[in-house]
Amino acid sequence: MTTTYRPGYSGSGPGDITPDGCAVELYKRLPPDDSPKIVAAAVPPPATLLELGCGVGRMTRPLAALGFEVTAVDESAAMLAEVTGARDTVRSPIERLELGRTFDVVLLASFLVHAGDPAVRQGLLATCRRHVAPGGAVVIQREGEGWHTQVPRERPLLDGVARITASVDLGDGVREMHAEYVFPDAEWQQVFLSRPLTRAQFEEAVTAADLRVERYLDDARTWALARAGSGDGAA
Ligand SMILES: C[S@@+](CC[C@H](N)C(=O)[O-])C[C@H]1O[C@@H](n2cnc3c(N)ncnc32)[C@H](O)[C@@H]1O
Repeated sequence: MTTTYRPGYSGSGPGDITPDGCAVELYKRLPPDDSPKIVAAAVPPPATLLELGCGVGRMTRPLAALGFEVTAVDESAAMLAEVTGARDTVRSPIERLELGRTFDVVLLASFLVHAGDPAVRQGLLATCRRHVAPGGAVVIQREGEGWHTQVPRERPLLDGVARITASVDLGDGVREMHAEYVFPDAEWQQVFLSRPLTRAQFEEAVTAADLRVERYLDDARTWALARAGSGDGAA
């Protein structure tokens, strides 16, 4: 399949690659991280949950197993084809999503809030706002301190290694990040844009979408729980 990339994003390696440069075959082999447990500790299931940027459903299955009724969204058909455990799957750019209903929880993980284009970032947050139920929660994952500057760095990943090999300052507050994933049987590369956000800048962006950060869910403040700013549900 030929990919039309988002400007500034690309990827290479075996299998389908998404518009933001993610490799489907890579995500198929990754184990879930702590995200489902962090969400469930903050907003106990049963609850309806809108998962934005679900990929192959690495988090969808554990979220469903914890008792969430998940609607999983991604713009990549190849990613969505792998998803199991969701009540529904929806193919759409997140920033243009209009489901006409709301959810107890909206999950914007995988650092998507750091989109290179601020208009896209605000579109993602506006989608969160449109789809959160009155009294519901928006859970957002953001990058930790030093994420852009402690480069190069690497960590073991399964039988291979994940590396951030470069972080290039493109000016105007945006960085071009270079990542590689090397395994004995396969290698993938990804180039993506990331806009660093201080805590104040992050909270300002959230507020601009008529949401407000109520609290952080971890000591590093990489997980934020926000609620509708005006407290009256969908805008
Ligand atoms: C880094 S992957 C993470 C997938 C999943 N959250 C996980 O942790 O396994 C990001 C996913 O979000 C999707 N994505 C990124 N930006 C998107 C957007 N603006 N609209 C829809 N999907 C998007 C990509 O297609 C990709 O599947």
